[in-house]
Amino acid sequence: MQNYKIAAIPADGIGPEVIDAGVRVLQAVAGRDGGFSCDVTTYDWGSDYYKAHGRMMPEDGLDSLKAHDAIFFGAVGAPDVPDHITLWGLRLPICQGFDQYANVRPTRILPGISAPLKDKGPGDLDWVIVRENSEGEYAGHGGRAHRGLPEEVATETAIFTRVGVTRIMRFAFRLAQARPRRLLTVVTKSNAQRHGMVMWDEIAAEVAAEFPDVSWDKMLVDAMTVRMTLNPESLDTIVATNLHADILSDLAGALAGSLGVAPTANIDPERRYPSMFEPIHGSAFDITGKGIANPVATFWTACQMLDHLGEADASARLMKAIEKVCAAGITTPDVGGSATTAEVTDAVIDVICGSNE
Ligand code: IPM
Ligand code: MG
Repeated sequence: MQNYKIAAIPADGIGPEVIDAGVRVLQAVAGRDGGFSCDVTTYDWGSDYYKAHGRMMPEDGLDSLKAHDAIFFGAVGAPDVPDHITLWGLRLPICQGFDQYANVRPTRILPGISAPLKDKGPGDLDWVIVRENSEGEYAGHGGRAHRGLPEEVATETAIFTRVGVTRIMRFAFRLAQARPRRLLTVVTKSNAQRHGMVMWDEIAAEVAAEFPDVSWDKMLVDAMTVRMTLNPESLDTIVATNLHADILSDLAGALAGSLGVAPTANIDPERRYPSMFEPIHGSAFDITGKGIANPVATFWTACQMLDHLGEADASARLMKAIEKVCAAGITTPDVGGSATTAEVTDAVIDVICGSNE
């Protein structure tokens, strides 16, 4: 029997609550399908670890993670530790150290979740946003000089490389090709940003020639927000730079009803390293410990993990269970329900195990 080694990093805020729920459903679906098992090792890295040790994870943290098939990540961020420390101390070193250059963010309106778009429901919005996850505006390239003086200067340079752009375009075209509509929208800003973004467009056109069966178009990022809002059915697979996709994926989450249900996968498509799966939402200190965190984003990212591991049947079973539970109105307060994290989790496990099928 296949046994997957999963590293869990629950980290901060509601991270431990949703990862705990996620591990429970993962074990349930593995047990139900019988074909595999998950051996989960939990790492206590994050802001508390930082307060005790002066770093977000041990120096050999990446080495420990390397031995796993996948990483299940909660959330980072604490009110008393600066965000750039928590982010650059844990999540980004994993994404960058493991060259998880494709960040995949599916968005759909789930049944039972009310979305803000007029007259739109499940079926009207079915997108996958592919975010370039290794360079661009998040490359960390820049610096500050003359700190604190009137002439202080700071630069934040976006980096676009031919290798980086080509590989994310190939990934996005391949993904679009695998979806029924075979439709890709390339987001750009080449009217105003005339170097990196112009190369981005050129490489998109070159890679498009390798995928004659995929229809593609190009959208300026500002106009893209309008199209997502007014004409969501016209979109399917979307590829964008690190920052553009960061912003558009929040909009996508809101249009689908809640960031509480939005998942994300940080993928190394070449499978040299473990890929990392997480909910998009943050640590949410305002509701930490109350038992009402929405576990759906974590369940959905568990589906992405199962797909990546090659367990498509288990992934589909879990996704169906999530949709059934949402449709039945068993949801947490952030999406208008009154269920607790544990109640949603138990309901999903019940469906998986068949007692409610
Ligand atoms: C996301 C988040 C992060 C990002 C934050 C926490 C830095 O917003 O995953 O979209 O911008 O990458
Ligand atoms: Mg974001």
